[in-house]
Amino acid sequence: MERVVSVDEVRAALARLRRDGRTVGFVPTMGALHDGHLSLVRASRRHADVTVVSIFVNPTQFGPGEDFEAYPRDLDSDTALLADEGVDILLTPTVDAMYPPGADTHVDPGRIGTVLCGAARPGHFTGVATVVTKLFQIVTPDIAFFGEKDYQQLKILEKVARDLDMRVRVAGCPIVREPDGLAMSSRNRYLSPDQRSHATVLYRALATAHDAACAGETDAGVLTRGVRETIDREEGVELEYAVVVDAETLDPVSVVQRPARALVAARVGSARLIDNVAIPLPGTGPSR
Ligand code: PAJ
Repeated sequence: MERVVSVDEVRAALARLRRDGRTVGFVPTMGALHDGHLSLVRASRRHADVTVVSIFVNPTQFGPGEDFEAYPRDLDSDTALLADEGVDILLTPTVDAMYPPGADTHVDPGRIGTVLCGAARPGHFTGVATVVTKLFQIVTPDIAFFGEKDYQQLKILEKVARDLDMRVRVAGCPIVREPDGLAMSSRNRYLSPDQRSHATVLYRALATAHDAACAGETDAGVLTRGVRETIDREEGVELEYAVVVDAETLDPVSVVQRPARALVAARVGSARLIDNVAIPLPGTGPSR
């Protein structure tokens, strides 16, 4: 694996690796890697000839008072994990190189970036869309892998790629969970053992909505209420939102007639956690 820091270096390394029409897969991350990230790397290794991973804690997607400074950084162990996975290039740009003075062009994903997590974190998805667009310009991947864990982010990046006529294919990968159902997240490191066990309620609540939908419930209000009530009963977990939305547009739905998704966000101690699950259409089997 080659670790590169500058844009010129990554371009030179890619020019060598891209010979004979080899395809490039790309996995953008903020580091503090876990099996969720590594599942994306493995998907890239399966679907592309060359795999590039970036680690960049992107300041423009953190709001004032959020955890930019505290965000876990562990470059040595991340580098070792990625080398073990057979990654070809690890890109670790500096903040100054990504945002030199005067770089104030933004990619605004529109309305879909202002709802749900975008309502709680104004500007967050503009920061995400801008940095991912920049990384796409630098790496020029054929296919880029993102987790369904950050479902709104995935749908936004699909839309950005479509709206801006990018050549890259944006691919979504399933959520990787701990054995007790908690979605893996770099932010789980903020949880005390006690908070960690309360946090499993997010998945338990979503699972009840999924199971109710499998059993034929199509009333989104009923599904949402079940999720909300389960989370409200849990000590130390402060629900921010629980919704059932159209799986593509993220618009609220009242009756599940098209593919839908249940999404939650909650605070547990200092951590803001998100999770989601597919809501199957009536008559189609489980797809959690
Ligand atoms: P980060 O939180 O490091 O996540 C990097 C990628 O890993 C994202 O696509 C995310 O959805 C995926 N991921 C995280 N946890 C996962 C899990 N449990 N299962 C499956 N995939 C998971 O998301 C970001 O970084 C940033 O916003 C980024 C896209 C890199 C832009 O800065």
